[in-house]
Amino acid sequence: MSKLSLDRILQSQGFGSRKYCRSLIEDGEVAIGGSVVTDYRLTPELDGLSFTLFDDEWTYRAQVYIALNKPANFECSRKPSHHPGVLTILPEQFSWRDVQPVGRLDHDTTGLLLMSDDGAFIHAQSSPKRHVPKVYAATTHDAVTEELIAQLLGGVQLHDEPAPLAAVTCRQLDTHLLEIVLEQGKYHQVKRMLAAAGNHCSALRRTAIGGLQLEALELEEGEWCYLEQAQLDLLVPA
Ligand code: URA
Repeated sequence: MSKLSLDRILQSQGFGSRKYCRSLIEDGEVAIGGSVVTDYRLTPELDGLSFTLFDDEWTYRAQVYIALNKPANFECSRKPSHHPGVLTILPEQFSWRDVQPVGRLDHDTTGLLLMSDDGAFIHAQSSPKRHVPKVYAATTHDAVTEELIAQLLGGVQLHDEPAPLAAVTCRQLDTHLLEIVLEQGKYHQVKRMLAAAGNHCSALRRTAIGGLQLEALELEEGEWCYLEQAQLDLLVPA
């Protein structure tokens, strides 16, 4: 790995401008291996680097991959208008690193949302050519029927789509609860498909992306975690 001076390292991790990061170091706010470091020109080994800043422990990450259990009433858009943005849930330095949601969930949809500052990863994950199944638990207004499931599996026509869209799989979990798996990520797709099939989605939660299950991450709503390589490997198409 190439060498970076400590002020640049802190800047790359989203802790502020280079000048500000220098001042943090010179003020004795940064420690490595338990010893305060006041020389910003120090070039520590990046691989496995941990440091404390204001007594919080951080590990250097060239790029971050995050899973958030999204609560309702947060927007995924860059310029949220009616609700706070999902980035406000994460520590501030992730905004400085330009962490972005991977795709979007509606403001009232909860569950698994990936976030990253790796543009290539975001692009690859969001590409319609990449058929990564996304699993949703949809609460329905009217009871689930076999006919509803057959319609969703057979394909329903949405207004602005050239061809009917079908669920990859769809199964009943409860009287008013469906698990629906989609490979596309069209705008309001689950809600619109349920409406086109004559029902109404009253609550929606994303429970998995590819083989990455929200449950396995053990996150309460509003909690987040870093994703490591083994978990990222689960995001490939089946
Ligand atoms: N489908 C929807 O309707 N909304 C979401 O947030 C995700 C999928």
